[in-house]
Amino acid sequence: MEQQSAKRILLGITGGIAAYKAAELLRLLMKQGMEVQVAMTEAACQFITPTTMQGLSGKPVLTSQWNDTGNGMAHINPSRAADAIVIAPATADFIARLAHGLANDLLSSLCLARNCPLLVAPAMNREMWQNAATQRNIAQLLADGVQVLGPDCGVQACGEQGMGRMLEAERLAQDIAAFFQPRQLPGKRILITAGPTYEAIDAVRGITNRSSGKMGYAVAQAALEQGAEVVLVSGPVALAKPPGVQGVDVVSAAQMFEAVQQHVGDCDIFIGVAAVADYRVAQPSEQKIKKSAGSLTLELVPNPDILAHVASLPHPPFCVGFAAESENLAEYAEQKRRAKKLPLLVGNLAQQAIGNDDNELVLFDDSGSHILPRADKFTLARQLMQHIALRYKGAGK
Ligand code: PMT
Repeated sequence: MEQQSAKRILLGITGGIAAYKAAELLRLLMKQGMEVQVAMTEAACQFITPTTMQGLSGKPVLTSQWNDTGNGMAHINPSRAADAIVIAPATADFIARLAHGLANDLLSSLCLARNCPLLVAPAMNREMWQNAATQRNIAQLLADGVQVLGPDCGVQACGEQGMGRMLEAERLAQDIAAFFQPRQLPGKRILITAGPTYEAIDAVRGITNRSSGKMGYAVAQAALEQGAEVVLVSGPVALAKPPGVQGVDVVSAAQMFEAVQQHVGDCDIFIGVAAVADYRVAQPSEQKIKKSAGSLTLELVPNPDILAHVASLPHPPFCVGFAAESENLAEYAEQKRRAKKLPLLVGNLAQQAIGNDDNELVLFDDSGSHILPRADKFTLARQLMQHIALRYKGAGK
């Protein structure tokens, strides 16, 4: 990623426990060469002091519009001197105020009067995040062109577990840096499959695999960052879709195939990250099969190969496949790439990749192989999307 030179960030902090992470975020942004001006709401000052943020940023912190010693335009001037406003953490209340255009304190006024992009990093209890009102407000912010970073899933300050944690400072700093990178694929339509499929045996049992969807969802997020319009066809996973993607939920390979056929028509790039079951049960039972003393024989029939189908369309999109192998990665991956006639195939070792947060990728194309060393899946997805953008343009698309 390019070195960020003197981007100016107005870092807004609102009143949530994640406010303590804003100190580290400030430090990381400054380390990337960014200039940061901090503004805090009254509630934020209950969680972390302006003195801390002043000490770290080397600048007085903006907390009120009533102590301005300049031209009395404290609610306007700071955003004119910023390349972006970043609200981290953004509480449910502050998000609601943004969605409704309220301007009843300095930070909300700065956001309403801004003439630069706005990025928000939500942080709240999981029930607050899932509440229909919050989801409406987030949808409104996205429709208004606001970038929503996160939230993350995990243990919360209240002891509950779920979506709503603010992204870690390191990830936010990466996301903010990526925001300033030139978009490689603006307006391109990218169709991505992710996660496992589930093939029913009977009313309660099925055949599936351990794909978590993490790799495919990270690729979808990275594609969004490149300015693409993303359709994410996902098998059953426990992840929230990255805000801004068009999500299509499916269960079986047949449903995934149908969804891909529906969306592939106008897509420029197709990326098959899903671990699609190669076989399904010929005749799944509608009722639960009763246990008996004898053995149970299932007849399995092959599923359609979605990627191979897309790659062999008369005018195929630029197709990227994945291959998870437990041995002989280079040999098997290259075999798959040639069999499915793909310009690019991404190989990974199944035992290291599936379900994990980290991965290592090997890219196979006509010019040979190229390793993306072990890193978290999101970092790899960003590197992969940069590579795909280059190859896509190189293919004269
Ligand atoms: O979800 P995670 O836990 O993060 O794990 C990520 C992953 C390991 C699942 C992912 O990185 C990965 O490797 N996905 C491909 C899994 C695989 O081995 O696929 P395959 O070899 O069965 O298929 C090769 C390619 O054809 C894949 O792009 C697959 O999506 C596609 N395919 C396969 C079968 C089929 N019926 N239709 C397909 O489209």
